[in-house]
Amino acid sequence: MNYHKIIPIVTGAIKHLPGVKGLLSKGTGGTIESRYCYSVWMRHLYNWNTVHSDIPKVVAELGPGDSLGIGFAALLSGCTRVYAFDAVKYLDNQRNLKVFNEIVDLFKHRADIPDNKEYPNVRPEIDNHGFPNTIISESQLKDALSNDRLDILREEIIDAENPQNQFIKYQIPWNDSKILEKGSVDFIYSQAVLEHVEDLEYTYIAMSNWLKPMGLMSHTIDFKSHGVTNIWNGHWTFSDFEWRIVKGGKSYLINRQPFSYHIYLHTKHGYELIKKCREEDINNLSRNQLADKFQTLTDNDLTTSGMYILSQKGS
Ligand SMILES: C[S@@+](CC[C@H](N)C(=O)[O-])C[C@H]1O[C@@H](n2cnc3c(N)ncnc32)[C@H](O)[C@@H]1O
Repeated sequence: MNYHKIIPIVTGAIKHLPGVKGLLSKGTGGTIESRYCYSVWMRHLYNWNTVHSDIPKVVAELGPGDSLGIGFAALLSGCTRVYAFDAVKYLDNQRNLKVFNEIVDLFKHRADIPDNKEYPNVRPEIDNHGFPNTIISESQLKDALSNDRLDILREEIIDAENPQNQFIKYQIPWNDSKILEKGSVDFIYSQAVLEHVEDLEYTYIAMSNWLKPMGLMSHTIDFKSHGVTNIWNGHWTFSDFEWRIVKGGKSYLINRQPFSYHIYLHTKHGYELIKKCREEDINNLSRNQLADKFQTLTDNDLTTSGMYILSQKGS
């Protein structure tokens, strides 16, 4: 084992890196902000709309993090139910309600979608940041934002794990695909989550089970080392044994699966790729620095630091 590589990271850097510290202890970062949640949902919706003209009815999110804000934005644009499955419970009722109320205001003001000046790293990128009134009609908004509906939503928010809820179904942890009825979801999305999921293939199988035939999936995935190493792709230099030490007792860190593995799983589980955007970064690692299990990474994998993928399940 290369102790020179591990010891400084485990004893020093890993504790002080903002992404890792935030991610693994107190919170996850993004969904603490209502404008972030609104922006992320609108971007996934915008992509949904490249295939469908209506609003998805039932949606499911993996890894909502600090609040259910992305799902709230889905409900406020007219979705009828949101399932939110996480590995760790990061949210609390007070923050969740605050984020909800702020997102209600954004919808009431038909606010523009926060762009990449405000959130430079948020993906997917879209080319129109105006309120999407061609996707969400005024009559849909009137129903979605009615006072009676907002009151029910607020009641459910403070009891988000209650299985009797009509609109919000939050479950942590989830580890069985049977938690959701087969073929019941129109749209599955996640934001900076699939790089953390430990059993990626099981999760793809679960998502395939949950989706209706022709249902869509929309995922943003970050392949960077999340600050564990100085080099953005330095996590591919660690053997599994070394990585277990880096991970310590945390319930998750990053799964280190590259771009090509996600493409492989999409293909294996019968998805048609509708949109695939690669984010590129320079690879400064030489092949002999890669751990044995990562020797097979392609040049494309070694330079793909992030991706957005929109796909459709078969009929
Ligand atoms: C970087 S945070 C992203 C949170 C949020 N989506 C955002 O945009 O800010 C990663 C999230 O993935 C979740 N996660 C990790 N493993 C998971 C799993 N197997 N299933 C669902 N969520 C998972 C974490 O608990 C955390 O909420």
